[in-house]
Amino acid sequence: MFVIVARSEQEMAERAADLVEAEMQRHVSPVLGLATGSTPIPLYEELIRRHREQGLDFSTCITFNLDEYVGSAPDHAESYRRFMNEQLFDHININPKNSHVPDGTIADLEAIERFCEEYEKRIADIGGIDLQVLGIGANGHIGFNEPGSSLGSLTRIKTLTAKTREDNARFFSSLDEVPRYAITMGIGTILNARKVVLLATGKGKCAAVAAALEGPVSSACPASALQLHRYATFVLDEDAASQLTLEGYHRT
Ligand code: F6R
Repeated sequence: MFVIVARSEQEMAERAADLVEAEMQRHVSPVLGLATGSTPIPLYEELIRRHREQGLDFSTCITFNLDEYVGSAPDHAESYRRFMNEQLFDHININPKNSHVPDGTIADLEAIERFCEEYEKRIADIGGIDLQVLGIGANGHIGFNEPGSSLGSLTRIKTLTAKTREDNARFFSSLDEVPRYAITMGIGTILNARKVVLLATGKGKCAAVAAALEGPVSSACPASALQLHRYATFVLDEDAASQLTLEGYHRT
């Protein structure tokens, strides 16, 4: 596992953007897995800056987002499609047809299951994800793979835990409005990506980061499954790294 402890939010954004850019240069049609949430926003800002100022070219880039709330239309204020458009896609030269976010508008359970199978197939048909960007929940979730998720799981519908709904309530006007279900890539889908970069900031994530990096591989901390990945890089700020026993080693 590779661990980078950055001294500032800007350094985190630059280190993560370097990994994304390197992958983009390695492939004619790079396939990126993307995350929403607060943590990757500085990374997306840095990618937009590189696009504007250095000509970083997204025209052949294909993206697949990790997850989407069930019951959320693409123009809904808290939909992940809208988040991605506003935070990244509207500011770079990606072909909108090449950006995929799970469809949160499907109401019927069987239709959701068919959609999830199709999402996996699209990823496989394109040759798999080259680099997957991840955040981490305070409970160790990646995507919306909550504790207890199968480490081999693929894209499917998941019930959000009370903790995740509380954590995400800051984006909604009340806890009641936070959706109860989401479509999410599985842990198996994430492990299939050729490279993974997980970003974490703040004290609220330090226990989850320590469990992911130094705890046992267990569905109790879904992010610990990344210990099985050959090319997983954690980019952390000092607070998120603060419970790591090996924190000094990672700095050397
Ligand atoms: C978002 C996602 C989630 C978030 C996690 C951290 O697409 O899959 O796993 O990465 O909940 O969210 P923030 O960054 O808001 O703390």
